Amino acid sequence: SVLHWHLVDDQGWRLPVARLPRLTEIGAWRREEGGARCGGAYTADEISEVVAYATERFVTVVPEIEMPGHARAALAAYPGLSCRGTPLPVPSGWGIFEDVFCAGKEETFAFLGAVLDSVAVLFPGPFVHIGGDECPKVRWNTCPDCRRRMEAEGLPDAAALQAWFVRRIGRHLAGLGKRLVGWDEILEGGLAPNAVVMSWRGTEGGIVAARAGHDVVMTPGSHTYLDHYQSRDQQREPLAIGGFLPIDTVYSYEPIPANLEPQFAKHILGAQGNLWTEYIPNLK
Ligand code: ACM
Ligand code: ZN
Repeated sequence: SVLHWHLVDDQGWRLPVARLPRLTEIGAWRREEGGARCGGAYTADEISEVVAYATERFVTVVPEIEMPGHARAALAAYPGLSCRGTPLPVPSGWGIFEDVFCAGKEETFAFLGAVLDSVAVLFPGPFVHIGGDECPKVRWNTCPDCRRRMEAEGLPDAAALQAWFVRRIGRHLAGLGKRLVGWDEILEGGLAPNAVVMSWRGTEGGIVAARAGHDVVMTPGSHTYLDHYQSRDQQREPLAIGGFLPIDTVYSYEPIPANLEPQFAKHILGAQGNLWTEYIPNLK
């Protein structure tokens, strides 16, 4: 089995990178409404302890480093990596933010290369998840650096620029002996060679990817998002992100879609349950 470990997001960066100390000094902390400081990061030793514990139990750890979107914590630490270069705080609210990594600036790829190099040292498993979901293109469409990149690479639009971004990161990971995993948005503009797709917006992305010969993890919101409500009586449950997903629906899930031709079934690596901790109030 596999532990997919989501280590960075807009609201906090939790991964130590020795060459990039601001990621944990600045990017790991946010101001809550009311002024309280909230955050923290793992140490390299703590991460290694988790990986060793998992390995002893035959569990592979797949780290997730989000790009090009969900990057506000990293951009708070290194604002020069955004399109506009404007200093912005680590946000305290949830959502999808328009400021993302600039795909035109070479500094972005030097930075992400350094991050992924240290990820490869900490995580011995074969996969690295690079996110890829929910990346607005508003900044890219008006950024001179991104527009220059699109022109130089012959890319027709910002979706193609994201696909180019993911392919470039995929080559860096291949150089480290790692396979790239991404949410199903990485299908947009063409899949990177050998990429593994996590199908979360339903199963259609996973089906398309499997038919194209790519490996797939099925994790549709309808059946595997364990941070949804479990009853219709939301008043009597702790605050959750929304939805309605009772446990019998989770267990009823069949990861190989009925309409997938049998010769592609081998590409469905399995199913994954997802849980983000923003609505988890404590460690118990
Ligand atoms: C996701 O739930 N944004 C992958
Ligand atoms: Zn840009």
